[in-house]
Amino acid sequence: MMFSSRSLVAATAALSLISSSVAAVLEGSITPATYVPGGNTNLAMYWGAGVNEQELSTFCYESTVDIIPIGFMNAFPAQGNGLPGFVAGDYGCWGPEGYPYYQGPGYDGDNDPENNLLPSRCPNIQQDIPLCQQLGKKILLSLGGGSGNYQLTGAADGVAFAEFLWGAYGPYNQSWIDLNPATNIRPFDRGLYNTSTSTDYQIDIDGFDFDIELAPTDSAAGYIALVNRLRELMARDNPSKTYIISGAPQCSLPEPNMGDLITGAKFDLLWIQFYNTPSCSAREYFTPVPGGHFNFDQWVTFVNSGKSAGNL
Ligand SMILES: *[C@@H]1O[C@H](CO)[C@@H](O)[C@H](O)[C@H]1NC(C)=O
Ligand SMILES: *[C@@H]1O[C@H](CO)[C@@H](O)[C@H](O)[C@H]1NC(C)=O
Repeated sequence: MMFSSRSLVAATAALSLISSSVAAVLEGSITPATYVPGGNTNLAMYWGAGVNEQELSTFCYESTVDIIPIGFMNAFPAQGNGLPGFVAGDYGCWGPEGYPYYQGPGYDGDNDPENNLLPSRCPNIQQDIPLCQQLGKKILLSLGGGSGNYQLTGAADGVAFAEFLWGAYGPYNQSWIDLNPATNIRPFDRGLYNTSTSTDYQIDIDGFDFDIELAPTDSAAGYIALVNRLRELMARDNPSKTYIISGAPQCSLPEPNMGDLITGAKFDLLWIQFYNTPSCSAREYFTPVPGGHFNFDQWVTFVNSGKSAGNL
């Protein structure tokens, strides 16, 4: 959804945010950083999973930040009663009393409301995403994360999850909603209350990030099908927009959780975690430890042997 500059400034002032800096950006005296496809100065910053975090919009005023993956979607339909689960920290999501989570349609014939994990309202995110996009940031939804119990099983599971993610977080599509009454869910579109109001937006996320830190049980058939289907849907429904598929593998090679996915599906960006794993962390380059080796070059070779060859 597009905002006129005037309505964005007015809405921001009404919320007592830092309206002067938004106005300055819109008037051109501050140049917001924007994502440059194929560029080598793009900076991504995860938001959502920490404690005592500041609002998403705070970081969208930072000129150095280009991409913000929001984390994490840490349960998938098999774990979330047919819907994913989502956590996003202090400013993230909650539900008004009485209906904190969406009622899932069940998974594989088993409907267990105890497993409903998708918060029904994300009012802060809902307000901030359009602002961030107006400021030139790419906002991604990050799947996985360091905690949670997420898993896909097979290609059909991945395709079905892609259709859900696209319908729920991609461009608003009334026919998708009409086709899927049980999953008529647009978690980022609605305000806190259960009514349609002028604060409801139609948010089209800028892409999906994969921070898979659990080993897939299906040789990544589900993840590969998920990425491939998302790419088909992006090309089908909004070919003129630059969507992003990104990934955050650990630096070890072979990479046990994302290696098969990276071999089998095309990524636009990989932010490899060259930290926390002494044997391959970037710090080994400067302060070597026995057996340590910053393996950037091996990553280049590995990525170029798979579906992202020449793409990063
Ligand atoms: C909307 O969703 C329907 C049903 O999934 C699909 O056939 C159609 O291509 C979509 N159209 C657009 C423009 O997104
Ligand atoms: C909220 O809206 C949904 C969908 O229209 C409806 O099923 C539900 O009963 C509403 N909840 C409340 C508390 O009004």
